[in-house]
Amino acid sequence: MRIIVFIFLVVSATAGWAQGIAPYLDDSKPIEERVEDALSRMTLAEKIAVIHAQSKFSSPGVKRLGIPEYWMSDGPHGVRPETMWDAWDQAGWSNDSVVAFPALTCLAATWNPEVAEEYGNAVAEEALYRKKNMMLGPGVNIFRTPLNGRNFEYMGEDPYLASRLAVPYIKGLQKNGVSACVKHFCLNNNEINRHTTNVILSERALHEIYLPAFKAAVQEAHTWGIMGSYNLWKNHHNCHNPFLLNDILKREWKYDGVVVSDWGGAHDTDESIKYGLDMEYGTHTDGMDMNVANDYEKYYLAKPYRDAIVSRRFGMKELNEKVRRVLRLFFRTSMNRNKGFGSLCSEAHYATARKIGEEGVVLLQNNNNILPVNTDKVKKILVVGENAIKMMTIGGGSSKLKAQNEESPLEGVRSRFGKTATVDFARGYTSIVNGSGGIISEQTRVIKGVDMKEKRSNEVLRQEAVEKAKAADLVLFFGGLNKHRHQDTENSDRKDYELPYNQNELVEALLQVNKNIVFVNISGNCMALPWAKRVPAILQAWYLGSESGKIIASVLAGDVNPSGKLPYTWGQKLTDYGAHALNAYPGVKRPTQDIYDEEYKEDIYVGYRWIDKEKVKPLFSFGHGLSYTTFKMGKVIADKNEMTENGSITFTVNVRNTGKVAGAEVVQLYISDLQSSVNRPLKELKGFKKVFLQPGESKDVTITIDKSALSFYDERLHDWTAEPGEFEALVGNAADNIVAKTKFRLN
Ligand code: BGC
Repeated sequence: MRIIVFIFLVVSATAGWAQGIAPYLDDSKPIEERVEDALSRMTLAEKIAVIHAQSKFSSPGVKRLGIPEYWMSDGPHGVRPETMWDAWDQAGWSNDSVVAFPALTCLAATWNPEVAEEYGNAVAEEALYRKKNMMLGPGVNIFRTPLNGRNFEYMGEDPYLASRLAVPYIKGLQKNGVSACVKHFCLNNNEINRHTTNVILSERALHEIYLPAFKAAVQEAHTWGIMGSYNLWKNHHNCHNPFLLNDILKREWKYDGVVVSDWGGAHDTDESIKYGLDMEYGTHTDGMDMNVANDYEKYYLAKPYRDAIVSRRFGMKELNEKVRRVLRLFFRTSMNRNKGFGSLCSEAHYATARKIGEEGVVLLQNNNNILPVNTDKVKKILVVGENAIKMMTIGGGSSKLKAQNEESPLEGVRSRFGKTATVDFARGYTSIVNGSGGIISEQTRVIKGVDMKEKRSNEVLRQEAVEKAKAADLVLFFGGLNKHRHQDTENSDRKDYELPYNQNELVEALLQVNKNIVFVNISGNCMALPWAKRVPAILQAWYLGSESGKIIASVLAGDVNPSGKLPYTWGQKLTDYGAHALNAYPGVKRPTQDIYDEEYKEDIYVGYRWIDKEKVKPLFSFGHGLSYTTFKMGKVIADKNEMTENGSITFTVNVRNTGKVAGAEVVQLYISDLQSSVNRPLKELKGFKKVFLQPGESKDVTITIDKSALSFYDERLHDWTAEPGEFEALVGNAADNIVAKTKFRLN
């Protein structure tokens, strides 16, 4: 067999040369043939070189063979500013400003796969212009606890929702010849002790909750890159984990792309060789601000690997396998001659950023229809809160961006309402407190004429806001979290479930003098809102990037009718989440090792699955989101009431816009297994569709499911299974608002 392959390669190589082009350069040839040809020409040193970094974000190509350097960038909300070759500091370029797109939580809240594809496409165009071959994203870790500092970079609590949005994002990116790098594979569900947490969970929870979005990325979107996570599973770090990377990802899922280490996520040469790592980055750093000069020769997959081969501790088999994957990646991206040149900061990209934001903002509460703002009556607007002026593309860790423009909420409100009302501002509270809060230097400078430095105490700021609120027709409060340490940021979790910086006291004080308050929450997470019943309107406005101000003002004004739905459950308190109710967060330190074992005791009962099981009443349910119009959903009609082994059922629901303005509703289909040999969640999301309707218009929405929507992961079979019996399809517009049901059987 080997001889035949050898003869084939010699013959085809000769044929290629005869035409003046080496087969690996000939893009009319199948990719596998090109990979084998290039591999056969590479020296040991060249092979070792392409599997580890040469700088913070690049690895060498093979200069002798005309294979260019390989460049990556974060990810996932836009292309990160250029960093120094060998340090995390920004390089100070003047041509690397970008469009900052809304954070992925906002994308998830759109419940719109078409928007996700547009998002991926726009990011890819910016990446191409910035000469990046791979974007480090999207992130699809599951929202298990609201304390996770990185929830804002992910797509919520539900594996089905995250999958349906990750797949088009990746396709949108990769159709441009820019690779995705889906992260962080997997179980990276908190940032506290992120390098030393060993997750313990059932095989079923792994497959039903934590793996589906990654599996969809591999098998449906055909992602070319996956990033291993920092944490451990089954006592191996996930950047070199035999069970995760070799058994599940590469063997079971037949993944043919590369596994990239998270920055500083590789810890051992032998494990990296054997257990699935293909490209090593950021070693000897923690992925954050430590300015350790990288000695790239000391990387686990650099000299130590070469030595292991020269001394014959390892043969060439593993190395060739890694290089094959890397070459495949090169041919798909950096060597892809059909890819375009991209574009940066185009009008189209700003429009995409606006669209994602406008569809993702969630109107959580709107008592007495205080929104949209009635510009005939509201003549004095007071904007309160630091988040009205704070740049949120700065900070937060690796997803930070240098936005060409970031319109603040205050600017947005001023330009939208300034003609019909006076708009005053009072900061009300500050996060800039000396010596605490992990202040990032950029956040204390003067930005667009607003001095972010603040010397006054929260009490003084509060008094000023209350004084001004007395005379206002409407108070727009911009609060929430920010990108400081212990807020929404990587490498630290939140310390509690509260609003920081005395914001609750400020809301209470404002309520004493003015009841017309709209609370606009800027965050990628939820928190306790003890005054929720007394504040008429609450809007969840995420981190919206470049177009923040415009997006929020359009929603407040009703130029845009909100249609976002929560991608996670908004608990009243921390113990509304299984991980906290069961005291299963964070991990428990081993007595003699710097390892924290974290047992996911809540098992598959994450988010609304826990809420349903424990009959908890959250503040706002998964899937919840209001509109300025009203909708009526009709009965759910199934095309048959029995599903066969390989069959499907299509459900049809009529939705009518019964209000006065155009808007969009999300039809959500949950499945309930009524007869099962194992415990199952009361219901699980298995289909959804967003439908846009003019006033008075109605449309039939159809959703088709097959057996996979009825299946659970059977630990006895180590596989998915669907048991015959009775099921129920539940249709509604939120996990707590099911309006139609129908039963059916699986035979
Ligand atoms: C983060 C990754 C990121 C990488 C490179 C790490 O700290 O965990 O998400 O892609 O740094 O910046």
